[in-house]
Amino acid sequence: MNLLKANNISHSFDTELFSNVSLELEERQSIAIIGLSGSGKSTLLNILSTLLSPNKGEVSLFGKNISTMNAKELEQIKRKKLGLVFQQHYLFRGFSVEENLEISAMLSGENIDKELLKNLGVEHTLEQKVTELSGGQQQRISIARVLTKKPKILFVDEPTGNLDHVTSDEVKKIFFDYIDKENAGMVLVTHNDEFAMECDVVYKLDNKELIRVK
Ligand SMILES: Nc1ncnc2c1ncn2[C@@H]1O[C@H](COP(=O)(O)OP(=O)(O)OP(=O)(O)O)[C@@H](O)[C@H]1O
Ligand SMILES: [Mg+2]
Repeated sequence: MNLLKANNISHSFDTELFSNVSLELEERQSIAIIGLSGSGKSTLLNILSTLLSPNKGEVSLFGKNISTMNAKELEQIKRKKLGLVFQQHYLFRGFSVEENLEISAMLSGENIDKELLKNLGVEHTLEQKVTELSGGQQQRISIARVLTKKPKILFVDEPTGNLDHVTSDEVKKIFFDYIDKENAGMVLVTHNDEFAMECDVVYKLDNKELIRVK
């Protein structure tokens, strides 16, 4: 099944960031987007994940152009089928880890996955307040929170930025195992070349163009 299709997307803020960007994502497929800081990777991810409308071009999700969807339809897809792991994670800071995970589980009718927490090495943090955790632990909780929803498409922005080598290898494995097990797809933005090159397809945003490098 085609999960995501971007057709000739262009976007500018003050100046043009990129133009004529097209890509497609299938089930069980991973795409990485690499490129220099400021090249527009996060902006492109925001467009693909429906958070931002492009100046030009179309994005289709599950075979349907999102500009033809009504607000309710788009909201349902965002809530149930898209999983966004941001460069800056947005955990609820005043709450415990368990509360953060419960909110996500409740919104999507899933349960907290204890096995997943164990694999991420954060199963002992459930009772703790988010503010008591290290940056890397918070990042892993934000990954657990997103996977708890069982999304069909993962949009992941620099997930290993705060992690040491060993933990970042584990996180990498968790994402690849997840897309295999759930027949999902992933669009990953990263400065971690090793992680990028393990994806099925790799693009580089360079000179306002998206160039396929793998
Ligand atoms: N909402 C916005 N309004 C205006 N300019 C923006 C906005 N968001 C991003 N930009 C600009 O667009 C450019 C690309 O930003 P973006 O965050 O997409 O880069 P990036 O490739 O993800 O960089 P990094 O690797 O550092 O995360 C930057 O120059 C940034 O200042
Ligand atoms: Mg970025």
